Amino acid sequence: MNFSDEKKETFALTTPLYYVNDLPHIGSAYTTIAADVVARFERMRGKSVLLITGTDEHGQKIQRTAESNGRSPQEYCDEIVVGFVELWQQLNIQYDRFIRTTDPKHEAIVKEFFQRVWDQGDIYQSQQQGWYCVSCEEFKEERELLDGHRCSIHINKEAEWRDEQNYFFRLSRYQSQLEALYQQVDFIQPESRRNEVLSFVSQGLQDFSISRVNLDWGFPVPIDPSHTLYVWFDALLGYVTALIDPDSEPTLENALAHWWPINLHLIGKDILRFHAIYWPAMLMSAQLPLPKRVFGHGFLTKDGQKMGKSLGNTLDPIALVKRYGADAVRYYFFKEIEFGKDGDFNETRFINVLNADLANDLGNLLNRTLNMVKKYCDRQVPNCTTDDFNSDHSLKAIGLNLGEQVAQAYESLAFSRACEAILALVRASNKFIDEQAPWTLYKKGQQKEVEQVLYAVLESVRLAAYLLSPIIPDIASDIYQQLGFPINFNDQTQISSATPFATHANWGILSVSQKLGEPRPVFQRLELLEIV
Ligand code: MSP
Repeated sequence: MNFSDEKKETFALTTPLYYVNDLPHIGSAYTTIAADVVARFERMRGKSVLLITGTDEHGQKIQRTAESNGRSPQEYCDEIVVGFVELWQQLNIQYDRFIRTTDPKHEAIVKEFFQRVWDQGDIYQSQQQGWYCVSCEEFKEERELLDGHRCSIHINKEAEWRDEQNYFFRLSRYQSQLEALYQQVDFIQPESRRNEVLSFVSQGLQDFSISRVNLDWGFPVPIDPSHTLYVWFDALLGYVTALIDPDSEPTLENALAHWWPINLHLIGKDILRFHAIYWPAMLMSAQLPLPKRVFGHGFLTKDGQKMGKSLGNTLDPIALVKRYGADAVRYYFFKEIEFGKDGDFNETRFINVLNADLANDLGNLLNRTLNMVKKYCDRQVPNCTTDDFNSDHSLKAIGLNLGEQVAQAYESLAFSRACEAILALVRASNKFIDEQAPWTLYKKGQQKEVEQVLYAVLESVRLAAYLLSPIIPDIASDIYQQLGFPINFNDQTQISSATPFATHANWGILSVSQKLGEPRPVFQRLELLEIV
């Protein structure tokens, strides 16, 4: 976060607030990396960014897990949270706020919000009967369940029958306002998720219960402390509490002053209903502005199978990042899987993609080119400028439009499209250098031609590194440093000032004044080792 320029456009985005019944799984890592990539891209574009993540700590699921581990819920949450913080550090996630829903500030926000909704007449008491999946913390329709009332997401868990007096939120009142909201095509993305929501809403919305009895772990319902607030009502408001500056009083006014409305909620497809239906309706009731965009990504499978503890094929993100490093994990997920669709993790494929793209196509290209510059050009960046190349030059022609093309892809969260476009330049550069054979030109004494070839390739590698920096910040920094820029893409104070998008996203900015570094590999080839 950068307060130095108050006039900068703001961009606030969130990951889901993760349940702390267990250590982070690969799904949590997937959403969080995506959020970090978007945040880095928006910072690179010069915006003032606030990335919010955190943990969702109340509810029956956590209470039961803590009990079965012989801990109090709070002790248990405190232990698990450490695992999240550590993983985000290892994955190089630059979040600005980490909200825990057990934070005392959060209770004040929840109370104030509840009161607004209550004052609107949108909360009433009634009897709740139905099947409740504790793992989803959600009532399920009978038709949504598998045999034996098992949940379709947690297939080894039986939903539990509930018949109790609860407080309800009058969701049905917001049917037409929500339908009008969905007319804004951008609100729910991708299109497939929007259609899912439209079809659900068209069946008619029913009020949902927002309190539980026989549950202690949560906030008491402000108007009736014999009830505990439903975990999802409390959790969604965590996005608001997260906005309060560390020294400010926890009031809605303070929370909403600077960063609201949120520009982007990034979530997985299983929690779409909460974010695209319940959440905007709650905000409508409280008469607050709505978030701008909800993007529901797909699920990761392993070797073609749904991941799950019962199948014993979960993928441990901590082991993965320890073994292969942050950039490798970040790159694979976003290059290989179309964001929004389900995608697979297969270790052989993982190794092959990383070796092909990062070790060979990008890393080797930089290395051999720098070595040639060392040998043929006395370690100097050849003295060329973009004007020395026609616009139909095979690399310049790709490079000229690439910045804008990739920016559009990042804005649409089409990360794999961004990677493909960048890699096309890298592959064209490999082909170009092989065809031009600067080693032969050098032998023939064609120094000017040698310099032009090497400049065009180095500049293309630079552009590729810059545009990939939101995804692979360490490798991009290494490349930039070898090209003579004292830049670390992990240093937020440098990003938009030292490497502004308006300059660095163009082809042809490398200059003779840059002092090239010693060539060294930016990505070591990976060997196949079984991780899990
Ligand atoms: N606590 C709620 C969110 C509250 S937000 C106010 C929750 N937490 S969760 O920890 O269970 O899930 C977090 C995210 O992980 C969800 O976005 C979910 O979609 C995602 N994933 C869980 N398994 C996944 C995969 N196998 N693949 C990709 N993402 C998956 O829900």
